[in-house]
Amino acid sequence: MEGKVAFITGAARGQGRAHAVRLAEEGADIIAVDICQQIESATYPMATEADLAETARLVEALDRRVVTRVADVRERSQLVAAIEAGIAELGHLDVVVANAAICPIGPDVAPLGFFDALSVDLVGVINTVEAAFPHLKSGASIVCTGSMASMLTGLVDNPAAGPGAAGYGHAKRAVARFVHEAALQLAHLNIRVNAVHPGNIDTDMLQNEPMFRLFRPDLENPTKEDAQPAFGSSHRLPVVTIPPRDVSEAILFLASDASRYITGQQLKVDAGALLPSTTSGAANA
Ligand SMILES: NC(=O)c1ccc[n+]([C@@H]2O[C@H](COP(=O)([O-])OP(=O)(O)OC[C@H]3O[C@@H](n4cnc5c(N)ncnc54)[C@H](O)[C@@H]3O)[C@@H](O)[C@H]2O)c1
Repeated sequence: MEGKVAFITGAARGQGRAHAVRLAEEGADIIAVDICQQIESATYPMATEADLAETARLVEALDRRVVTRVADVRERSQLVAAIEAGIAELGHLDVVVANAAICPIGPDVAPLGFFDALSVDLVGVINTVEAAFPHLKSGASIVCTGSMASMLTGLVDNPAAGPGAAGYGHAKRAVARFVHEAALQLAHLNIRVNAVHPGNIDTDMLQNEPMFRLFRPDLENPTKEDAQPAFGSSHRLPVVTIPPRDVSEAILFLASDASRYITGQQLKVDAGALLPSTTSGAANA
């Protein structure tokens, strides 16, 4: 990643921060943005400016340069401004990681939560890629974050998960499709577009009370400890929650020239959760 500049959304904490640090470890400079304020329908606390500053500190501790901006992926002009500020300081743009998202969970989420999830998780991804596109040259790599949950039945499509989760599922499935179509459109420019679909990752988006309730409907007031085995039961490999850094390894591969002839892929870092069963898997083979 030496000599490359990566633009990462939702970089204040969680997976976005882990991606910033992992790419910086391999030599990338980073443009990191995050909304750093609450979106009302989100059922758990979002990141803060202090979180974004901590990401910057971690990147700088690796002797890499970083430009941070508070920006909302729903507002394309804010992304354009952040990218321009980053390029003014860092020189160019080579990698885009469209990672920011919200997952409002539960039957009490207002109907608006459906649209909030779509605006952030789908429109936000398209805004990110479109804002970056004029600056990308041959060899650039775009990675969009989808989700295992959007492809499993009975989880975010469960009525008990509410309208925000339905929006999340719809947005993430559309991100997968968007990646496919964008890969087709940008291939002749030698610009690659891939998706990473995480399983249950150990971040604030997963580790919150409404999520504990979704995974443990059998308990009235499930605790964090109650929820962990249920998180693990989504996976086939023996892991309860996947550390963010394991997703970063996939991001690093897809961002780097090691994957220079790989585009349009839907890479699942889901501990086997989405593997078809033996029968249907054999039928697909
Ligand atoms: N945690 C999981 O189990 C899991 C599973 C599958 C997919 N994902 C996906 O991984 C990605 C990263 O999520 P995470 O697990 O690190 O959760 P997280 O909540 O810790 O991180 C998401 C970040 O995005 C930021 N953000 C939200 N809305 C924004 C907006 N409008 N503009 C700019 N920034 C915004 C938040 O402030 C936060 O810092 C998301 O796309 C999420 O959907 C997570």
